[in-house]
Amino acid sequence: MLEVRNLRKVYGEEPGGYVALEGISIDIAAGEFLCLLGPSGCGKSTLLNILAGFEEVSAGSVMFDGRPVKGADRDRMMFFQDAGSALLPWLTVEENVRFALRARRVPRSQWDDIITRYLSMVDLNNHRTKFPAELSGGMRQRLQIARALAVEPRVLLMDEPFAALDAMIRRRMHAILTDIWQRSGQTIVFVTHDIAEAIALADRIAIMSVGPCSSFMKIMDVKGARPRDMGDPASSAMFAEIERLLTPEIRRSEERLG
Ligand SMILES: Nc1ncnc2c1ncn2[C@@H]1O[C@H](COP(=O)(O)OP(=O)(O)OP(=O)(O)O)[C@@H](O)[C@H]1O
Ligand SMILES: [Mg+2]
Repeated sequence: MLEVRNLRKVYGEEPGGYVALEGISIDIAAGEFLCLLGPSGCGKSTLLNILAGFEEVSAGSVMFDGRPVKGADRDRMMFFQDAGSALLPWLTVEENVRFALRARRVPRSQWDDIITRYLSMVDLNNHRTKFPAELSGGMRQRLQIARALAVEPRVLLMDEPFAALDAMIRRRMHAILTDIWQRSGQTIVFVTHDIAEAIALADRIAIMSVGPCSSFMKIMDVKGARPRDMGDPASSAMFAEIERLLTPEIRRSEERLG
């Protein structure tokens, strides 16, 4: 569904600009859960922003359903970043979801069903008339996930959405996201620098090298039924393999940052 071919991204003028990405190619299938994994500054957000149509490519192409991605395509792709900041504080829980449905022109006759379905999935159906300020941090996050998914975008692009959460809430978010993804058949591209998070969630993990000229070092299939436990032999072996790949990269990145 998404085809990335030989993508290159340079910030600034060439020559002399910063080559963030070089020679990135991948096909992302409908319904797939892909994680982009790599050290800080390797270009994960850059790549996600290009998929979203927020950033232009310097060379190569990105195709969605066989057509080039040009500009943000808000009806088909949804961008989701730093959960906790994007709720509308003057609207209640259900109004926040309704607002998103209206903005995406979902037919009004479907609103009630969709709102109930998605709020139930994240256990917020009993809190529909509360305002964001009356919710806990974890509840606000769940509301954001429900709202992002309720518009049923074909592709959900997530940039380290759970990075700020503590480990227990993050695990719960993983379970909720996995559940909704399995039921909805949506395609998810999820950025993280957390190896365990990538293994817990993904069908495939694309591991990125440190920039400049970051590219995919390896694209790995993740096997094993969900929920995946890092204690499983397969998961812990994969963790070790990714760590072996990334450790020298992280060292290089630290040297580069001084
Ligand atoms: N607008 C910009 N102008 C110039 N350089 C940029 C710009 N945006 C990003 N960069 C550079 O491109 C590289 C990749 O940045 P990007 O934000 O994509 O990394 P990242 O992998 O998302 O990092 P993090 O894990 O810290 O979020 C970095 O070296 C960054 O400094
Ligand atoms: Mg980033």
